[in-house]
Amino acid sequence: MNTLKITILVENTAGKLGVLAEHGLSFLIETGGEKILFDTGQGFVLKHNLKRLFQGLENVKTVVLSHGHYDHTGGLSAALSMMNNPAIYSHPAAIQPKFGRNADGSARFIGMSELNKDALLHSNWIRTTQPIELSGGLRLTGTVPRIASFEDTGGPFYRDAACTYPDPIEDDQAAFIGTGHGTVVILGCAHAGVVNTLRYIQSLTDNRPIHTVIGGMHLHSASEERIHRTLTALRELNVRRMFPCHCTGFAAAARLASEFPGQVSACPVGTMISAGEDS
Ligand SMILES: [Fe+2]
Ligand SMILES: [Fe+2]
Repeated sequence: MNTLKITILVENTAGKLGVLAEHGLSFLIETGGEKILFDTGQGFVLKHNLKRLFQGLENVKTVVLSHGHYDHTGGLSAALSMMNNPAIYSHPAAIQPKFGRNADGSARFIGMSELNKDALLHSNWIRTTQPIELSGGLRLTGTVPRIASFEDTGGPFYRDAACTYPDPIEDDQAAFIGTGHGTVVILGCAHAGVVNTLRYIQSLTDNRPIHTVIGGMHLHSASEERIHRTLTALRELNVRRMFPCHCTGFAAAARLASEFPGQVSACPVGTMISAGEDS
């Protein structure tokens, strides 16, 4: 079984001397002798944090983009400048235009910048819509089936600036890996729904227990009913350890911490999470 180490490179909060925070997400995953960069943040702090955390991307051969939003793909071009032509895995819809509707009805662009889109199009880009296993044993879900009736994409997302065509964010995908303790799941924003994602991963792993979940759960605008049903599902899934961060939202993270005492931790920039080791 695999062991792994995950270093938080970019997150909304900072937890070590000299590292910086931004609204975004990037993890360095080490498993099976491989290093994988999962998301790249907005691009303002990635390089700085790598240096402060004594980490480099020179030996990273694989990049995963959980979806096309700016806070996960903004650092792609900067990351690639530190790497040697890595394989980049993402859903093809990651490069589609993406907008968020503001409270006043106006829209803001929240997709991949032209710079990063160009970098992706000229890279070793592997388009993933189905589950796939990468070197090192890490697996990707591809598009996650939307089954739970109480889960939606988590916000007003559109494919056009006029907010005419809703964006289902079909590019959203998660990573997962089996360890001696159970499956470890790494989420980007979980726009497909955290429960949909975890249940799908269980269906892909012979219903093995999910031990650890790390990443954004996109519950910051969730209704009370959605939060309640999400907590119920997490209890049924018997998830042992959770690191809700980024877009999970303060209220939802607080509820998780209160309802799963001793099992929930924050993971600001600089946090290192190990899994699958005998300890
Ligand atoms: Fe997102
Ligand atoms: Fe996000």
